[in-house]
Amino acid sequence: MATQHFLTLSDLDQQALFQVLDRASALKVAQQSGQSVLSLPQRVLAMIFEKSSTRTRVSFEAGIHQLGGSAIFLSPTDTQLGRGEPLSDTARVLSEMVDAVMIRTDLHEKLEIFSRYAKIPVINGLSDSCHPCQLLADLQTIIAKFGQISDLKVAWIGDGNNVCQTYCEAAGLFGFDLIIAGPPAYQPDPSWVKLGKGRVQFSTDPIAAVKGAHVVTTDVWASMGQESEVRERRAALAPYQVTESLLEQAADDVMFLHCLPAHRGEEISDTLLDDPRTEWVWIQAGNRLHAQKALLEYLILGQV
Ligand code: CP
Ligand code: NVA
Repeated sequence: MATQHFLTLSDLDQQALFQVLDRASALKVAQQSGQSVLSLPQRVLAMIFEKSSTRTRVSFEAGIHQLGGSAIFLSPTDTQLGRGEPLSDTARVLSEMVDAVMIRTDLHEKLEIFSRYAKIPVINGLSDSCHPCQLLADLQTIIAKFGQISDLKVAWIGDGNNVCQTYCEAAGLFGFDLIIAGPPAYQPDPSWVKLGKGRVQFSTDPIAAVKGAHVVTTDVWASMGQESEVRERRAALAPYQVTESLLEQAADDVMFLHCLPAHRGEEISDTLLDDPRTEWVWIQAGNRLHAQKALLEYLILGQV
């Protein structure tokens, strides 16, 4: 049987994604009631981080530990990857030693090369193109509040970045309406918009975009790797800050999400995360743990 990787959300079909999301909710209930689930005893996850992380690192490491396994953190500075050992060789070596590999990197092609040579599941922990693990947690969070995801209106405000591109993909897979409000120069790549299967629309007016939205979400204006563009991005994206008054324009029961880390005074107002309408952000972050535990079970055991 071919090894199942998770480089993009669409590596799993809608049915498999729902299975993972259902299992994530069950694992969350188990965790919160103090029940141990030791479904991955002795299993080892290698985690290659070429970029910084708090949530992804901690959720994967805590997650596999809670399931009875363990994780190894690898950074380019202290592995041979940083001295030029090819990804293809590293993939073949790690395949002999561990049960799955999670990689956070810049170029998505690096994940594709690695997975071509790996005999074990490879998980995208964020690339410049997409962040599928984030969307698992976001979908789990949205379903927890609204009971479903299709037919909701989701408004993305700001930069059309890697997380936004994964929202486009999710809109096509799950059938929700996604409206992206931002400057035309910062829209997601058309190849990702196409994955939205006609459910993605654009606006340059954040107020119009959030009208009636059930979910309003945003992310930093300069992603990791775009540090040299901070000034021009701040100027271009300034009209797209999510504020308390912008949320007033959305549906009465609007849910605000942010993948975090957040930059107060940029993509969100200084005080937005103190508003009760934004409290789901912390649940969203916590769901990274449960969603990825379900994903690890699915990829390593071939089931949930
Ligand atoms: N949202 C997210 O992936 O956070 P980290 O960069 O802290 O992992
Ligand atoms: N778009 C952000 C997401 C961080 C989790 C980045 O790539 O830096």
